[in-house]
Amino acid sequence: METILGLLITLVVLISLVGVLTWFGGRKAIKLTVSQKRGWLIAHVTSIVIYFSGLFGTLLLAISAKLTTEQELIYAAHLFVQYFDWFLIIPGAFASLITGVWLAVRTNWGMTKHYWVMAKWLGNIFAILYGGVFMRVWVHDNFNLIFSSPHHPLQNSFYLQNREMLFVGISLSFSILIFLFVISYLKPWGKRDSRERSS
Ligand code: HEM
Repeated sequence: METILGLLITLVVLISLVGVLTWFGGRKAIKLTVSQKRGWLIAHVTSIVIYFSGLFGTLLLAISAKLTTEQELIYAAHLFVQYFDWFLIIPGAFASLITGVWLAVRTNWGMTKHYWVMAKWLGNIFAILYGGVFMRVWVHDNFNLIFSSPHHPLQNSFYLQNREMLFVGISLSFSILIFLFVISYLKPWGKRDSRERSS
């Protein structure tokens, strides 16, 4: 029940955020100037670098936790995975969405004119929901459960299973981000048919 509630709240926040940005940006008759667009593109790519660096850091820490048998080092690795999530991945994901939507609505790209743009905001929203529902459990919720136990983590089957799920989560998040990164340069699938957009 808590997971569904969490999913719904995150979804309402995301739809409201995209809705307000699209409405506000759409009211502005004049599009971004070349230098303004360059500024927003720098902000957009910076937020993506923050997002990626949080994921890379999480992957490195998860690998280091797997390569050691020392309880303190395993504890420290998972503690810092929480910090990377709170201070890099979550802010980076939201900043990528906000700057991306603003770039789309304030330039001729628009939100629903091109398939690659639609794939990006759907992909970014999916990545945030996935993180909010599943990664949250493997990174944060299970942390206290695992490290308040008297057992050494490597003798704790719950920890071992949680660590494997964390790797699954990191892999899926990386796949989504690399896909969104690549389509940002290839801009595939062309333009949506104006009849389809108007229908
Ligand atoms: C984590 C998710 C995202 C990643 C990894 C990503 C990646 C990128 C990259 C690397 C660029 C620079 C491309 C270039 O230099 O030509 C870019 C540009 C852009 N992105 Fe994103 N982006 C993301 C989310 C979004 C979202 C949610 C939107 C919203 C619709 C969006 C819309 C745009 C637009 C309109 C541009 C400018 C394209 C241009 O004029 O060349 N992005 N994105």
